[in-house]
Amino acid sequence: MQTLTIIRPDDMHLHLRDGDALKAVAPYTARQMGRAVIMPNLKPPVVSVADALAYQQRILAALPEGSTFEPLMTLYLTDKTTPELVREAKAAGIVAFKLYPAGATTNSDSGVTDLFKLLPVLQEMAKQGVLLLVHGEVTDSDIDIFDREAVFIERIMKPVLAQVPDLKVVFEHITTAEAARLVSEAGDNVAASVTPQHLLLNRNDLLVGGVRPHHFCLPVLKRETHRQALVAAVTGDQANKFFLGTDSAPHAQSAKENACGCAGMFSALTAIELYAEVFEQAGALDKLEAFASKNGARFYGLPENTDTITLEKQSQTVPESIPYGNETLVPMRAGGEVAWRVRY
Ligand code: DOR
Ligand code: ZN
Repeated sequence: MQTLTIIRPDDMHLHLRDGDALKAVAPYTARQMGRAVIMPNLKPPVVSVADALAYQQRILAALPEGSTFEPLMTLYLTDKTTPELVREAKAAGIVAFKLYPAGATTNSDSGVTDLFKLLPVLQEMAKQGVLLLVHGEVTDSDIDIFDREAVFIERIMKPVLAQVPDLKVVFEHITTAEAARLVSEAGDNVAASVTPQHLLLNRNDLLVGGVRPHHFCLPVLKRETHRQALVAAVTGDQANKFFLGTDSAPHAQSAKENACGCAGMFSALTAIELYAEVFEQAGALDKLEAFASKNGARFYGLPENTDTITLEKQSQTVPESIPYGNETLVPMRAGGEVAWRVRY
């Protein structure tokens, strides 16, 4: 049987939620990832150092006994974030602030209304080496949902990088050729995370033959040419600027299969296996380890994990659903086959 042993990966973009939901999903990530960058869009959002450290303790308490999984904590950037908070965050080991443009996605009501009013905060982040993680979509109602990332690049991303040139920025869950290009051409202070769904699916998988609510996420899936551009980016010359960030974002089945279904795909169950499919299909399995286990750590200034995981080329059937507190959760590829499996 074909096997592939790689340094244990990290998930540089993960939603773990809280309470019973946290307890349901955290063990899946902890069994394959060494660390994960934890998104702060709880209700209410994680805005203070004390909030983040308390949340970190709840995450650690939700892990199976003996787990060495390490949650890397972030704070939610708001109109009220101050340079002083940036210094406090740095001192407490918070790795980043997450920018959600107000209204962009799930629990983003407290998001930033005008990033350019926060320039002193961004300058302090650059000075302290605290990263800015960007949900790169504009939210103006006149901008088509499929264009929101490309417009964000012109209106926000490029001007911000011009005004704070040494800010370390992760363009999160990129979905377009434009974003892949921006990151490839930018300085070493700019990188991107890429999800399994944006590497494996296009908007036909969302809309052809009926609406597939479990394929709805934000940024929304794009046309096939964009998916191909993302695969080219993570396997190409500038591949060291791109890394694994699942954006695994659990929502109860009832909230997804709904007249107003929530955005988010839960991929943590088989995350590294799904990425292995992408790299195998691209004839670039030798590049999976850098994407999954090296590029993110390097960008965050962290050492690589010291242990390994082994993938086997053996098909597994993904469950139709898994328990989620009192509800159920439908994973990515539910009921289907994934070509690889992790040897646990
Ligand atoms: O699809 C998404 N779900 N995109 C996001 O940006 C947020 C996430 C969530 O928290 O559910
Ligand atoms: Zn996310």
